[in-house]
Amino acid sequence: MKSLILSIAFSAILFFPPGLATNDSGSGSGRYSRCRCLPADSCWPKPSEWASFNASVSGSLIAVKPVASPCHDPAFDQAACEDAKANYTLSVWRGSFPGGYQQVNFETSAVTNETCYIDTPRSSPCGQGNVPVYAVAATSPTQIQNAVGFARDKNLRLVIKNSGHDYLGRSAGRGSLQIWTHNMNNIEFSGNFTPEGCKWKKSEEAVTIGAGVQLKLLYSALKDKGKTAVIGLANTVGAAGGYIQGGGHSPLGPWKGMASDNAYQFTIVTADGKHVTANECQNSDLFWALRGGGGGTFGVVTSATIRTFPDSTAIVSNFNATIPDRDQFYSFIADFHGFLPKLSDAGGSGYYYIFYETNSIIVGAFFVGQSNPNATEALFAPLLQKARGYPNSQVDWTQLPSFPISVGIDMSLTGTDVTASNSLLSSRLISRKFLESADGPKKLCDVFKTLGPNQNTVFIGHIVAGGQVARNECLDSAINPSWRKALIHLVFARGWETSTPFQEQAIIARNMTDVETPILAALEPDMGAYMNEADLNERRWQEVFWGEEIYDRLLSIKAKWDAEELFMCKPCVGSENWDAESICRK
Ligand SMILES: Cc1cc2nc3c(=O)[nH]c(=O)nc-3n(C[C@H](O)[C@H](O)[C@H](O)COP(=O)(O)OP(=O)(O)OC[C@H]3O[C@@H](n4cnc5c(N)ncnc54)[C@H](O)[C@@H]3O)c2cc1C
Ligand SMILES: *[C@@H]1O[C@H](CO)[C@@H](O)[C@H](O)[C@H]1NC(C)=O
Ligand SMILES: *[C@@H]1O[C@H](CO)[C@@H](O)[C@H](O)[C@H]1NC(C)=O
Ligand SMILES: *[C@@H]1O[C@H](CO)[C@@H](O)[C@H](O)[C@H]1NC(C)=O
Ligand SMILES: *[C@@H]1O[C@H](CO)[C@@H](O)[C@H](O)[C@H]1NC(C)=O
Ligand SMILES: *[C@@H]1O[C@H](CO)[C@@H](O)[C@H](O)[C@H]1NC(C)=O
Ligand SMILES: *[C@@H]1O[C@H](CO)[C@@H](O)[C@H](O)[C@H]1NC(C)=O
Ligand SMILES: *[C@@H]1O[C@H](CO)[C@@H](O)[C@H](O)[C@H]1NC(C)=O
Repeated sequence: MKSLILSIAFSAILFFPPGLATNDSGSGSGRYSRCRCLPADSCWPKPSEWASFNASVSGSLIAVKPVASPCHDPAFDQAACEDAKANYTLSVWRGSFPGGYQQVNFETSAVTNETCYIDTPRSSPCGQGNVPVYAVAATSPTQIQNAVGFARDKNLRLVIKNSGHDYLGRSAGRGSLQIWTHNMNNIEFSGNFTPEGCKWKKSEEAVTIGAGVQLKLLYSALKDKGKTAVIGLANTVGAAGGYIQGGGHSPLGPWKGMASDNAYQFTIVTADGKHVTANECQNSDLFWALRGGGGGTFGVVTSATIRTFPDSTAIVSNFNATIPDRDQFYSFIADFHGFLPKLSDAGGSGYYYIFYETNSIIVGAFFVGQSNPNATEALFAPLLQKARGYPNSQVDWTQLPSFPISVGIDMSLTGTDVTASNSLLSSRLISRKFLESADGPKKLCDVFKTLGPNQNTVFIGHIVAGGQVARNECLDSAINPSWRKALIHLVFARGWETSTPFQEQAIIARNMTDVETPILAALEPDMGAYMNEADLNERRWQEVFWGEEIYDRLLSIKAKWDAEELFMCKPCVGSENWDAESICRK
């Protein structure tokens, strides 16, 4: 099967010679026209229409440019270019512009052969690529309602962007109008929250956050209140956007469940322009879909209310083991994976990285609610003893006495997330059953052997399932059911330099989708992948991200709330009816 990326590049050459790519004869302003209106189309709104639209969103309309544009003619600006060069890889900086995506490859377009790189000469053109043309820098639901109405009436490709972190590029889109939620930063705590209209429910402690609130901001607000919540471990990911709508994993997940398991309520602007409340007691189908069905699909979430918990204690244990002999290293990696169910039973969570260049594994484990470091040290002792037994091995172990979760989070969120790569991910959820099976860990090592060494792959293991994530198996939401059986979420990436032509990028992408992802997937054919951190060209993505039963229900909810498919992204619910760019219906 031809990969999507390849077919984009292919159709670009066959059907859309560069320059004509934006004039598609199928576009028109009718609501059911086959294609969206793009800037070169006659149906694209006239300047006067943009101006009156701008007035209707209180002047918040921005003409968006790629973040490297000041480094290129004709818009070259020495000072702005130097500033961009100094801050280019910082996620906070990238997230502060509507045109800044955390992965540079989502700012480019293979279809139009457009890039705007920071490291190319001033004279090379800065193409708009997949960076939206206009953005509404929304601060209120009314502006979002007006933007949704305008996009619907003018048949525009609409995208929602929060932090721009999406690993599948779903917050970008060529020729689109963007709703930018970054500036919606309200945070409101409640000691006795009852979902609106739920008279029978007892009130709980909760926090209501605006659509733009990023994790670091929320963690610091929680800390000030002596609280914590299930959110991810990153500075700039958005807590109420794609993160929670895709499920949301966290090192606190094994303690309290997935982020979406802890959602009480969303407010959301739907395709008909209404601002509605979704919870267990009203619009409960939407509430179900927003907990795992994916961002950018059912409407624009304007706020999310999530459960809070009193801050608790945690122990953080770290080790770094380097085992020079490759076979012995693999043997240790197998032992480590066989140990993970024990770690989970002890309340552990965390992350690990496998490096082939140095034959090292680095592990950071969290034990939430624990206060006895002797117990966690004893837990790791046999494993570390094994590592120390290999010739010339080097093992560093550090453990801090127990302290508040909030302090552990602060220590983990040092600096800023470094972003700005050109890359694609691949991943699978791996079950507890598999890790417990006699030959499971060894089979996993065979995959590491096949996929790793040649390309210096870094495998990232997320120990974010098990515990309460598994115990919530009866909680009815749209989350991938594989999460309830999983213990780890395993990810690797393939990247390239900006000098890599689109044709070669397509080969890397196709190899990932057709060769590499299937090797990882074959370990457990019945397990799926976490849609927020996955191969964007995943075959059978409906099954892999949700399973047939949940997907069918999501499709019918999509049909009810967004019959005209105003909200469309790839690979999102309903996108099988659209081309790879979500511009034309098939
Ligand atoms: C450095 C880094 C660390 C990460 N850490 C974690 C982690 O600890 N746990 C975890 O589970 N994931 C993590 N992720 C993955 C993360 O869940 C996804 O990147 C997610 O898509 C981010 O959502 P966002 O809203 O911030 O990003 P965006 O790219 O802005 O949006 C993502 C998707 O959600 C949609 N969307 C955004 N806002 C809204 C809204 N208000 N209403 C409707 N749709 C919306 C967008 O259209 C897009 O489809 C991490 C990613 C990165 C890059
Ligand atoms: C789009 O293509 C049509 C048909 O070829 C042409 O008549 C029209 O002028 C083009 N519009 C733009 C904006 O280029
Ligand atoms: C929208 O209006 C504001 C305020 O008048 C103005 O500053 C801004 O440049 C306008 N946006 C566009 C894209 O013209
Ligand atoms: C960019 O980086 C420079 C140097 O580190 C810093 O002084 C400046 O404030 C940054 N600019 C922005 C817009 O963040
Ligand atoms: C794409 O753009 C690059 C850089 O501008 C150029 O070298 C290349 O020839 C273009 N490819 C196609 C197929 O037009
Ligand atoms: C882990 O150990 C290896 C080998 O000693 C070393 O190169 C690497 O920097 C260490 N990494 C960390 C994060 O300590
Ligand atoms: C941990 O072990 C040390 C040394 O053996 C001992 O002094 C200490 O009391 C133990 N702490 C707990 C909480 O058991
Ligand atoms: C495809 O992936 C396999 C496994 O990682 C690798 O060995 C091979 O070199 C890759 N091929 C290409 C063309 O990248």
